[in-house]
Amino acid sequence: MTAIDDSAPVETDRELVGIVAVADNGVIGKDGDMPWHIPADLKHFKETTMDHPIIMGRVTYEGILEALGEPLPGRTTVVLTSRDLETPENAVTARSLEEALEAAETAARERHDAADRIFVAGGATVYEQFLSALDRLIVTEVHEEPDGDTYFPDWDRASFDDVSRDDRDGFAFVEYVRRSS
Ligand SMILES: NC(=O)c1ccc[n+]([C@@H]2O[C@H](COP(=O)([O-])OP(=O)(O)OC[C@H]3O[C@@H](n4cnc5c(N)ncnc54)[C@H](OP(=O)(O)O)[C@@H]3O)[C@@H](O)[C@H]2O)c1
Repeated sequence: MTAIDDSAPVETDRELVGIVAVADNGVIGKDGDMPWHIPADLKHFKETTMDHPIIMGRVTYEGILEALGEPLPGRTTVVLTSRDLETPENAVTARSLEEALEAAETAARERHDAADRIFVAGGATVYEQFLSALDRLIVTEVHEEPDGDTYFPDWDRASFDDVSRDDRDGFAFVEYVRRSS
């Protein structure tokens, strides 16, 4: 069970997993995009999230639409927004975290047979709101210090164990799991 708000916990056995690429100076975005191009990270993101629901903010969603012309294929995108957006078949909107989790849970049940995870894929406003509820955090550490306008929020590293690290040339895939209390 994932409890965002004690009054309305969403029943799910699925892990809630944050996934992010962060530069050494904390930057995650610039002008609605990521300020680097790392094909191996895009591949890692695709393989990790494929056939799962993904929750993201409206700004991140619009950046993906601009880049791809459509939401991420093979996944259900749950877009947090206060706006009335028209979405194609593999995307839905949600007006609160609870609504987003419910929509992700429904999508996992109805469209993604093997989905054992719900992903939280940014941007900064969405990571910030979900951080305290995440079971796992999959981080690509990007060893650069780019200019940016969007930063990953402060997070409580002491509550997580780093369980794996895969160092590559200029970046690393690192995985953190919340310590059981
Ligand atoms: N490096 C990475 O891994 C990574 C990952 C994702 C994004 N990014 C970058 O991050 C930047 C975008 O992040 P951002 O923080 O500016 O924007 P964002 O989080 O993607 O989107 C913000 C919008 O989400 C909606 N929203 C957020 N919380 C909500 C809630 N509780 N209820 C209803 N709506 C809610 C609001 O939309 P409305 O205004 O429509 O109400 C808000 O304006 C981009 O540069 C992107 O490339 C980087």
